Amino acid sequence: MDGPDLEFLLDRMTVEEKVGQLNLVSADVAWTGANTINPTLHFETPQEHLADIRAGHVTGVFNLAGAERVRTVQTIAVEESRLGIPLLFGADVIHGLRTVFPVPLAEAAGFDPAFAAEVASAVAAEASGEGMHWTFAPGADLCRDARWGRAMESCGEDVLLASCMAAARVSGFQGEDLSDPQRLMATIKHFAGYGAAEAGMDYNTAELSATTLADHYLPPYRAGIDAGAGAVMTSFNDLDGVPATASPALLTGLLRDRWGFRGFTVSDYNSDAETIAHGFASDRREAAMRCFNAGLDMCMASGLYLEHLPALLADGLITMERLDTSVMRVLQAKRALGLFDNPYRGLDAVAPASRALAREAARRCPVLLKNAGDVLPLAPGAAVALIGPFAREQSHLNGAWAIFGDNNQSVDLATGLTNALGQGAVAVVQGCEIDRELHGGIDAAVAAAREADVVILALGEGQHMSGESRSRADIGVPEAQLALARAVHTVAKRVVILLRTGRPLVIGELADLADAVLVTWFLGTETGHAVADLLTGKAAPRGRLPMSFPRHVGQVPIFYARKATGRPAAPGSPIFTARYIDVENGPLFPFGFGLSYGRVSYGPTEADAKHMPWDGVLTVRCALTEADGRDVDELAQLYVHDVAARRIRPIRELKAFRWYKVPANGSVTVIFEIKRDDLAFDDMQGGRLAEPGAFDIWIAPDAQSGRPVRFILDPPES
Ligand code: GLC
Repeated sequence: MDGPDLEFLLDRMTVEEKVGQLNLVSADVAWTGANTINPTLHFETPQEHLADIRAGHVTGVFNLAGAERVRTVQTIAVEESRLGIPLLFGADVIHGLRTVFPVPLAEAAGFDPAFAAEVASAVAAEASGEGMHWTFAPGADLCRDARWGRAMESCGEDVLLASCMAAARVSGFQGEDLSDPQRLMATIKHFAGYGAAEAGMDYNTAELSATTLADHYLPPYRAGIDAGAGAVMTSFNDLDGVPATASPALLTGLLRDRWGFRGFTVSDYNSDAETIAHGFASDRREAAMRCFNAGLDMCMASGLYLEHLPALLADGLITMERLDTSVMRVLQAKRALGLFDNPYRGLDAVAPASRALAREAARRCPVLLKNAGDVLPLAPGAAVALIGPFAREQSHLNGAWAIFGDNNQSVDLATGLTNALGQGAVAVVQGCEIDRELHGGIDAAVAAAREADVVILALGEGQHMSGESRSRADIGVPEAQLALARAVHTVAKRVVILLRTGRPLVIGELADLADAVLVTWFLGTETGHAVADLLTGKAAPRGRLPMSFPRHVGQVPIFYARKATGRPAAPGSPIFTARYIDVENGPLFPFGFGLSYGRVSYGPTEADAKHMPWDGVLTVRCALTEADGRDVDELAQLYVHDVAARRIRPIRELKAFRWYKVPANGSVTVIFEIKRDDLAFDDMQGGRLAEPGAFDIWIAPDAQSGRPVRFILDPPES
């Protein structure tokens, strides 16, 4: 990509024009009037924003959708400002634009990074066709606390899975060449440690030791940056008493000096000005100075840099060199996107994302937690009653961060199931509201349940119950829904629960009263078709849990890669061991767990040798056998435990996962190779450390199953 001589352009820019390249404005308020996804800061009229654009005081606009609106605003920037520098159009295109795909946590349940990249590529093609250049995705926040509302936007609790998904989605959005008009620049967010919000409360401080941050929370961000993400967005939280948005340690020491990140950093929405509320900056001028000098390149929505950087420069509190560095990073991104050559890139090629791909994506995510008596797939000709607040509705299919989704295009459960089973084959009853009773609802539901061979209960979270600023202290299913389920259970022959959710929920009672439980997350536009495909057996469930489902909210945060403690507790352990006295230890359903139609059993994990040479490779294998007469897609998971290390290691760590097709009544042999780096961990000096000694290794179907085999990593040849 050629583009202009950026040094020459920089030399022509006034200080205000340079600062303008660091000022990102929100379209939420200016152009749409409504502010749907962020707090309302200051109402600037579209005219005021356009005046700023003409003055060269704006670098980009975000969440302005619609090709013609983008074209109009870009034309003003290019033709009516002094230097004609094109604007960046960014957006929260998190899991789809008009065609909505499953939320990221659901996609992570698919455990398929290559497929996630394919989805991201399709989403990029659709969004770029509406004039967008830059998506504020993927989120790479590790999440181990289901109380946090943005669990839905994470890829769950596991470092490897979250890292693979972050890298894959960056590659999918960006492709090989950002100047391709169907590509989007990706953003790794929210840097750093946002998912560790204390008590699962959004925006709260993140209390993380340096080693926990390094071992668990930083690798997914690093993976996305190493995959080439063009931008990094800072997080709302503080770390060690310093807001991430104003942290030199994070934004310069780690991101630039250690990781070599060359793109630009952008604040989260007003997070630079919020360093005042944090109790870090005393006023907006100091906030601007401390964020800028920490390494924050661009401010989002606050207007802080436009207000204060010129005076800070004149007062010698920031340097022209530092200013030029930030401006150059932004200009380089615009050139990489091809905007100087074609500011209207993509605008003439609207490529709606494929509904077939959305349906396939939605089919891959649901996790079958229970299927007693093989109640699923539904028997042909079965009389079905579809009951619950999500039986027939189009407003709660997409989940959070689907701000451009067109609900009218969405296929709800009733439509999907009726299309699959035929008119009249499905009785549909609401039964209750999402979080309160419905007059006569239970009576109608019980009446329908009596007549049905199978009751399908469509329960869980509404759209408003997960997402940003939707943390929950109680992660159960609303009481009105439980009352409906209990009443239906008294008369139903068979009960299948479809659990819609953006997070793990406490579902012990529901799991007990149901014959089958299918976690359907928020699946997006093709929800109804995808779920019907699974219920009828047209496709088989293959999702695996990306986060542990707790027995009780009191266990949270709960995750498999925990430490043993000095008094490990096994089921039935006596007192004085690491356990609760009122709740059984461990999750109700573990990370990696998921059933399918058909049954696969795992043979013993076998290692080819008891010793692994320091510079060698160890091969481990395991036989998978299907015994139910159905082909099964099985996710074999490789876990490792470093038995004794200078820094305690988790009792299990996922080191690899791979899908295998296990033929009906047949077997396949799973083979993984372990290298020393798979056994290493951060040495906290910028390198990685592996230590000779004993390791346990499992090939298992989830993070709790299986028996390990032990091997020794030999010391280097002396
Ligand atoms: C929000 C979110 C961030 C989003 C940004 C712009 O507060 O934290 O993920 O990209 O603001 O909408």
